Amino acid sequence: MEILVRAHSGLRYVVLGLLIAAIFVAFSKRGERNAPYSKIYLFAMIATHTQLLIGLILYALDFGVKVRFDMMSDKFYRFYTVEHIVGMLVAIVLITIGHSQAKKLNHGKVFAYYSIALLLILISIPWPFRNLGAGWF
Ligand code: HEM
Repeated sequence: MEILVRAHSGLRYVVLGLLIAAIFVAFSKRGERNAPYSKIYLFAMIATHTQLLIGLILYALDFGVKVRFDMMSDKFYRFYTVEHIVGMLVAIVLITIGHSQAKKLNHGKVFAYYSIALLLILISIPWPFRNLGAGWF
């Protein structure tokens, strides 16, 4: 359990790094209709899907019991059970759509989908300054 939380927590930086790199690549190729596909798009998608998988396991193991009680009353539980999960799921769907555009070499659309997803991920991460019981790592 502890290992999974640490992995999920640390992987945020891998996700953010790969997404930013993918967004730069997409930006530099926008407008070029047939610029070649870049593997960075795939790596960014794999990293977010890995977070989805670990997150679902954490949610099932750890939060399943707590969620049934008091779901909307406490800021902490509301964050993890509603805001974090909904925000991240929407972001992951956008990245998946963005990646399908990457295969069609629509780099401009990849840029748009990945950028919105990055913003959503940034605001859905329990950064320490939000006092949600999580740290930097
Ligand atoms: C890109 C996607 C995601 C990122 C970057 C991310 C990041 C994080 C971070 C930084 C934490 C705090 C860990 C700590 O306590 O130090 C966390 C906790 C958590 N995340 Fe995510 N997450 C993502 C997606 C998801 C998804 C899709 C789910 C569920 C379906 C999920 C479920 C959880 C749960 C249940 C916790 C609380 C774990 C605990 O403290 O026991 N996450 N996440």
